[in-house]
Amino acid sequence: MTFLSVAVEAAKLAGKIQLKYLNKEMHVRTKSTPFDRVTIADLECEKAVVQHIKKRYPYHNIIGEEGKYLRTDSPYVWAIDPVDGTNNYSKGYPFFCVSIGLAFKGKPIVGVVYDAFHRELFTAQRGKGARLNSKKVHVSSGKHLGESILVTGFYYDRSRIMEETLAQTRKFLKKGILGIRRTGSAALDLAYIAAGRADGFWELRLNLWDFLAGSLLVEEAGGRVTDRSGKKLDLERTSVVATNGKVHKEMLRIVNPT
Ligand code: IPD
Ligand code: CA
Ligand code: CA
Repeated sequence: MTFLSVAVEAAKLAGKIQLKYLNKEMHVRTKSTPFDRVTIADLECEKAVVQHIKKRYPYHNIIGEEGKYLRTDSPYVWAIDPVDGTNNYSKGYPFFCVSIGLAFKGKPIVGVVYDAFHRELFTAQRGKGARLNSKKVHVSSGKHLGESILVTGFYYDRSRIMEETLAQTRKFLKKGILGIRRTGSAALDLAYIAAGRADGFWELRLNLWDFLAGSLLVEEAGGRVTDRSGKKLDLERTSVVATNGKVHKEMLRIVNPT
């Protein structure tokens, strides 16, 4: 039993729960703001994933979006987003996933992003590449922003962060990029960068459970991931810029002008 196989099994359990409630009564409630939703699937998925991991690794630390878990002194930390893209999910818009990442001594070592609706399983292990349904994937090869599709997201904030993201979006569009996408699931956005379906992603604030798995996918697929100032990501709430590597500097010039 490897860390990866435990993460994959847990992701499949969550995917099943997500599909069970999709387009049915899902008891939607709001959290930090009226546009930050949680459903019964978020809670059930997190419970199933945490139980699955705890059964095998009772002393590992777990950071989940929906629950609080006892901290241990283990160097292993799992970060779980039981449903990434909850607002999409709650409307039946089929762009959501479960994201499970594992870090050892502050370094991501396993990442799993599972899109149950489209049956797409993205996996990565440090040093072993990134895969989509078992097939190796690689980031795109476009060298310039002009050839790029960029993806962004908005933290649950409708003031400063939103204004800044909108201003950056305008600047990117003026650079003549192919297009901007705002999909509603940061973890899947990162998986799509890893699979070469888009060229660059940025979001000004994300939590560890949103990006731990996806950031490893991008790096293992040959891409680059930093915060907005170009520094290595801290494993806590941060800005994230993830690209095919080639357009990274050009993106940072707009996301973090000096
Ligand atoms: C959200 C999604 C969204 C991103 C937000 C996240 P949630 O996660 O990843 O794309 O823009 O910042 O909070 O709430 O659906 O798990
Ligand atoms: Ca979530
Ligand atoms: Ca999330």
